[in-house]
Amino acid sequence: MTAGCVVLGGGDEVSNSFASSLAASLSSPYCEVLRKVFPDGESYIRLPGEAVKASRVCVVKSLDYPQDKALVELLLTLDALREKSNAELVAVIPYMAYSRQDREFLENEAVSIRAVLRAIKSAGASELYTIEIHKEESLRHFGGRAYSVSPYEYMAGKLEIPEDSVVIAPDLGARGRAERLAKALGVDYDYLVKQRDRITGEVVFKPKELDVKGLNVIIVDDIISTGGTIAKASRILKAQGAKSIIVIVAHALLVDGAWDKIVDAGVSRVYATNTVKPRSGRPVIIDVAPVVAEYVSSS
Ligand code: R5P
Repeated sequence: MTAGCVVLGGGDEVSNSFASSLAASLSSPYCEVLRKVFPDGESYIRLPGEAVKASRVCVVKSLDYPQDKALVELLLTLDALREKSNAELVAVIPYMAYSRQDREFLENEAVSIRAVLRAIKSAGASELYTIEIHKEESLRHFGGRAYSVSPYEYMAGKLEIPEDSVVIAPDLGARGRAERLAKALGVDYDYLVKQRDRITGEVVFKPKELDVKGLNVIIVDDIISTGGTIAKASRILKAQGAKSIIVIVAHALLVDGAWDKIVDAGVSRVYATNTVKPRSGRPVIIDVAPVVAEYVSSS
């Protein structure tokens, strides 16, 4: 039990459900913001009385699609809390949108994650928790206590994984993820080498032979968006003799068409967390709010 802590759901289905599970894990009271959209499309937020009276409020808001609207709703919520209460404001952002634009890939591009994290901080959050941000170093832009919670070790205990499995990361950036999951599962890991064209967005894999012949491959990544990365990785691994392909991701955005693309490429099952609402397909969803609760209660 965290004394005086109230968990506030951000009003949409994903955020409310995550917040409710987080509150149960923390044995804390749960409430929700009231949200509306004005006829011209502007967002409206009203706080519940319980949140205004608390000494610590965990504001749970996933920056799931539509990301820009979710961000504005989060900023309105934090700003209203800052004005109306003296509470310490903890932002719990299950899915941190914009985290992949973490530097200028082309000259004069906006560094989106920097702008988003600075906005959340200046709206009043003093602490921030998210799940598997694309790169942990990005959290420095928050300028305060900020943590990226790894879900894979917890997920490992909930997976049905066949014998003779190996974990493969689709690129060097996901190697650490593969290592964490493989350690938790007690299996080996390796990684492919991927490059993305910064103009077209097209993904290209460099030739690399992996020891996957006759093995059940578990591909691990932070996010499936269009499914291009996973589909190409799956085809390469199948061509190298993989017996089956299972995918573990934190954020299964699965934009339209992504599910069919990865299934056609040989993926038999996808496990994901409850940070977003998948826009296609049927991944197996694992509730990771209890892992976030451990971080929040120990801070
Ligand atoms: C990129 O480095 C990320 O970790 C993911 O691999 C990528 O964003 C997935 O996007 P998509 O599903 O569109 O290939």
